[in-house]
Amino acid sequence: MDPQHDLRAMRLSYDRDTLVEADLRADPLGQFRHWLADAIAEAVVEPNAMVVSTVTPQGVPSARTVLLKDVDARGFAFYTNLRSRKGHDLASTPRAAAVFPWLPLHRQVIVIGEAVEVSRDEAGSYFASRPHGSQIGAWASRQSEVITDRAVIDERYADLLARFPDEVPLPDFWGGWIIVPESVEFWQGRESRLHDRLRYRRVRDGGLDDAGAWVVERLSP
Ligand SMILES: Cc1cc2nc3c(=O)[nH]c(=O)nc-3n(C[C@H](O)[C@H](O)[C@H](O)COP(=O)(O)O)c2cc1C
Repeated sequence: MDPQHDLRAMRLSYDRDTLVEADLRADPLGQFRHWLADAIAEAVVEPNAMVVSTVTPQGVPSARTVLLKDVDARGFAFYTNLRSRKGHDLASTPRAAAVFPWLPLHRQVIVIGEAVEVSRDEAGSYFASRPHGSQIGAWASRQSEVITDRAVIDERYADLLARFPDEVPLPDFWGGWIIVPESVEFWQGRESRLHDRLRYRRVRDGGLDDAGAWVVERLSP
């Protein structure tokens, strides 16, 4: 059978829930926490996984999955190698989009905003909380570089294990980024593709200290 035909026949009817203005929390952080709790309760695999897009100064986009490790009034934080492809992108163009694809709930959340590097203190305290093997792994990987074969990384890992048998220092090339949201869209699938899309958008009065206020807009599906 032509797999193309299978793809064309694949469709779900999205009928699990609705999202109306009256349901929304006052700010996107509260709404996000509410939906994240639902994703956890529904046993979504890796509920804190988000697909983060970045762009080069030339406008070349890329995307990858990372894990949300903090969400607070500042925004959505993840940790990574600062010299990876995404690290270079964010250093030169500090803007990102993130998608949480909570497909079993027929939901997605899309965050767009400025990216700000987390402090070295904060990166250090998160790094210290990671399992020893993951800490060594962070040291071992020059993330996103081409390597000749698997052995390169396995040997580096073994060497570093001998070098850091106990405490592992924070590598200077490893840290975190916070996506400070300018907009957060909550998408709930509905029947006949007439989905609910409610987007919080930050509006500012232009003052230097103005953190902005949120307006909610409904988008056409
Ligand atoms: C479920 C999942 C979670 C991941 N979490 C992270 C993460 O938190 N940080 C990270 O640097 N890479 C993470 N990765 C690997 C990235 O997707 C990616 O391969 C890596 O960061 C290199 O991306 P880049 O070359 O575009 O910079 C994860 C991958 C998956 C599938």
